[in-house]
This record gives sequence, C-alpha cells and structure tokens, in this order.
Amino acid sequence: MYKLLKPILFLFQPEKAHKITTGLLRFMLKIPLGKSIIRGMFYFEDQRLEREVFGLKFKNPVGLAAGFDKNAELIDDFSNLGFGFIEIGTITPKGQPGNPQPRLFRLPQDEALINRMGFNNEGVEEAVGRLKNRKSNIIVGGNIGKNKVTSNENALDDYLICFEKLYDYVDYFVVNVSSPNTPELRELQEKEPLMKLLKGLQDVNNKRKLPKPILLKIAPDLIESQLDDIIDITKQLSLDGLIVSNTTIDRSGLTTNAENIEAIGAGGLSGKPVFNKSNEVLKYIRRHNPTVHIVAVGGVHSGQDAVEKIRCGANLVQIYTGLVYEGPSLVKRINKELLKHV
Ligand code: FNR
Repeated sequence: MYKLLKPILFLFQPEKAHKITTGLLRFMLKIPLGKSIIRGMFYFEDQRLEREVFGLKFKNPVGLAAGFDKNAELIDDFSNLGFGFIEIGTITPKGQPGNPQPRLFRLPQDEALINRMGFNNEGVEEAVGRLKNRKSNIIVGGNIGKNKVTSNENALDDYLICFEKLYDYVDYFVVNVSSPNTPELRELQEKEPLMKLLKGLQDVNNKRKLPKPILLKIAPDLIESQLDDIIDITKQLSLDGLIVSNTTIDRSGLTTNAENIEAIGAGGLSGKPVFNKSNEVLKYIRRHNPTVHIVAVGGVHSGQDAVEKIRCGANLVQIYTGLVYEGPSLVKRINKELLKHV
C-alpha cells in the first residue's frame, strides 16, 4: 500500500509529508475497525524476537530512531506498528523552533535525507505532559540535548534538567552530542567535555534508588582516536551503551547531482549512504569493547540490513529514513528476517 502512497507523499515538502502520514495513521487508529486493520497489517510478535538489553526487556530489537517523534506525540499510535521500542526527542529544556524551513530534503536517487532541523521541539514540560497520559507500555527512550542558546560550558545544566524531568516517564536515556545542526554541539564529543557531561549525569543517576540506563549517541564521522576516547569513557563510567550513529556531514559517494547537493547546503545525511560508514564505527567499537551494548542506526532499509548490523555487533537496531522510503511494513519485514537467523 505504501508503494501507492509514496509517489503522492513525495509530491509534498518532506515535513508536510511527515505530518500527512502521521495524521493518516492517527485517523485510521480512531475509526471503527481501523486499529484492527493497522495491527493486522503491521503488528508482529514472536517470543524468539525478545531481547534483554541494559536491563530492559524488549519485545523485539527494532526501534524508532530519535527525531521522528520529537515531542512524544506518537508513542501510542506507533506502538501498533510492531516496534520494540520508541525513542522520543531530541528534547531540550525549553521549546525552540529549530532552523528556518526548508530544512529537510529528500535525495530519492540515494534513498537518503539531508536535515538541518536544529532540535525543533516543544520542550521537556510538554513532553512530560504527554508521557503522563500515554497508554501503551512500549519501551520509551528519552533522547536529550541542550538548547541552542546554552553554551557548551553550561550544557550539563540543560541535560540535567531534561534528565530529572523525564526520569519517571522514560525507560532509558540517550545523551545526544552528535547532531550536526546545533552549532558546536559535536565538540562535546571530545574527551574532556564529554567526561564532564557524562560523569555529571551518571553521578545524579547513581544517587537514584533505581538508576536508569544512560546511552551516548555518537556521530559516524569520528576518527579512531576520538572513538578510543569514547570507548575509555564508556568503560570508566560504566555507561550502559552507545547509539551508533547519528547522521553524517560527509557527502562522498552520492549519486545525486553535485549541484543539487550543494544547493541543499548544510545538514546531516541519513539513509542508505550512511549504512557502511556507521557500520565501520560499529565494528571498531565492538572490536575494542566486546561487552558494551550497542544500538545500531543508519541506513537500515531492509531485513538484511538489520541482520548485517547485528552481525557487526549491534544488540538492537533503529530506523528512521528507511521508514520514509519503505513505509511502516519495514518493521515487520525486519523482524521476520531476524527470525530466520535465530
Ligand atoms: C534525525 N536524527 C536525530 N537524531 C537524534 O539523536 N536527535 C534528533 O532530534 C534527530 N532528528 C532527526 C531528524 C531527521 C529529519 C532525521 C532524518 C534524522 C538522526 C536519526 O535518529 C538517525 O540517527 C539517523 O537518521 C540515521 O538513521 P537512518 O535515518 O539512516 O535510519
């Protein structure tokens, strides 16, 4: 069905198409029999897909990557599509508009997207309000960041605000320091500021009766010495895991006309072109740390892609751009393919 819908959706600006698709899903779930139809089409369960990772029990290892549900609006709706977990955010303490539009672009020839959204979100209070009312018990991760106006020196304060406010309502946290669209954010991936940030969060977390898993989301553009630092920090702070990876700023190997790429301008590239790049980072980390939990994301557009990520050392996978190009049946297709390999 998505094959029929996609050419129509692709006539709209990507942000508009996102709103139309999620609106359509919500509508379907509200009308009589709509929920049964949607679940019949997309929901898939099998005990052999269950995973226990960083102390949480996942119904299956396929999650919705951060950025799709920035404001925690889709959790109940998307729980009907067969996901094992949903990551909300990136959420910042205060709401902020993000960068001016247009800021999201399709590269259909490459099955890719370029985005420079800039952490547009309604802020942590709004997200908490919605999380309080959620009905489904699907595992939810809270991906947190800092406001654009907050300096890197004060970044910890922003992450702590989000951490404290979301603590009762999410199952795990993701510290996002890898978006290319907030000026200087990625400098927080350097050893000293990263240690300060993660230690600050882990100290507060460890004072809780039941500390929550904290994961770090990294860019696929890091060089080996930076990855070595991250592996060290992960061990020193007993971090629960890594999300590998965010979008890339690299534009090499694209088949889309170079002039078009140039005209799009700055932003993070996602989808098929990031698959190998993020797999290289994933393999490097797995080689140097056999035990850290890794959530792999970047260019998963088929069941085979997810199998490959798991072969490279991932415990769980997430999708975003694949959903745009393949539609929601991708989740079920991945889970079915994974079953062939259990
Ligand atoms: C993202 N991604 C993202 N990641 C994150 O940690 N916080 C965010 O707010 C966003 N926002 C966002 C918006 C858009 C439009 C896209 C396409 C992506 C990155 C995303 O979670 C994922 O890491 C990358 O897109 C790579 O995976 P895919 O898209 O190739 O499956």
